[in-house]
Amino acid sequence: MTSPSLPAALRAALDAKLEGLSRQDAAGRAALISKTYRDGGSSIAIKSEIDALAYALVRMPATYAAIAACLNALVEERPDFAPKTLLDVGAGPGTASWAAAEAFASLENFMLLDINPALQKLALELGRDHPRLGAMTCRRDPDALDDVDAADLVIASYLIGEVSDAERSGLAERLWTKTREVLLVVEPGTPAGYERIIALRRDLIARGAHVAVPCPHDLPCPLQPPDWCHFAQRLPRLRAHIQLKGAELPFEDEKFSYVVLMREAPAKRAARVLAPPDVGKVEVAAKLCTAGGVAIAKIARRDKAAYATARRWRWGDAVAEWI
Ligand SMILES: C[S@@+](CC[C@H](N)C(=O)[O-])C[C@H]1O[C@@H](n2cnc3c(N)ncnc32)[C@H](O)[C@@H]1O
Repeated sequence: MTSPSLPAALRAALDAKLEGLSRQDAAGRAALISKTYRDGGSSIAIKSEIDALAYALVRMPATYAAIAACLNALVEERPDFAPKTLLDVGAGPGTASWAAAEAFASLENFMLLDINPALQKLALELGRDHPRLGAMTCRRDPDALDDVDAADLVIASYLIGEVSDAERSGLAERLWTKTREVLLVVEPGTPAGYERIIALRRDLIARGAHVAVPCPHDLPCPLQPPDWCHFAQRLPRLRAHIQLKGAELPFEDEKFSYVVLMREAPAKRAARVLAPPDVGKVEVAAKLCTAGGVAIAKIARRDKAAYATARRWRWGDAVAEWI
């Protein structure tokens, strides 16, 4: 299992970059970047080295935790998947590359694409001393995606919300063209983020993709608005993160929506827990996405073994016996 916490080497690299930096300046930039995101803006606001670092301190721990959760779900479903090459599209400070390096010891080759020069420079600097990421290749020309080799694993984390509605479906196809085996797309766990995931899922299933996780089927999503499929990952906040955000709690919960698509049809897929289960004295009630649609599973306490198992279910877990 990949931990939701940033790897120690990445934390150390971020701390080293913070030395000699005015916290007040970085906090001001972080607040501006957070506001830009809240207002529906994009990373275009990140222009300087300090902006890039402020982004990495306030957002990278949370996006890292979400990506780690998605990769853990993938590994649980496909323990045999051992990618050698990664294409990290919209890589930012290299978040998904770090998470994938932790999840897959097999990864040897990391290609990072990002149009933002400040974030790309930071990605290179943060990864410099890592035994495998140190050899990463970065490109920032807008057409790089069409030019690079396909990779075993392609990740687009928190990217597709940054491209226009008109470009998004073309981008989905371009990502899929570069996918040799598995494509992971992650977005914020908002109704809008989910809508983008579900549209990409639909378009790429029509092009022959299969869902590895989180859905136990390739059918249209059975959820009806105002419901939407999303998950949450708790993560510890970095000290600098708390200072820059002016936050009080030492942790936060990152909500995310995601899909992992693969070329090969899976033999079988587990059902998924869609919300925090209701654990009562008489029964556990859990909302599950199953191969047959959404179901509320009720596991009575008198069924001791099943109840003991269901008590441990968490939002986002795979539940094999409910296929
Ligand atoms: C919100 S950041 C996410 C960064 C990183 N993937 C993460 O999860 O922390 C979005 C990134 O996508 C990049 N980006 C936006 N449009 C892009 C495009 N058309 N091609 C490549 N990168 C793009 C931005 O420069 C930014 O670094």
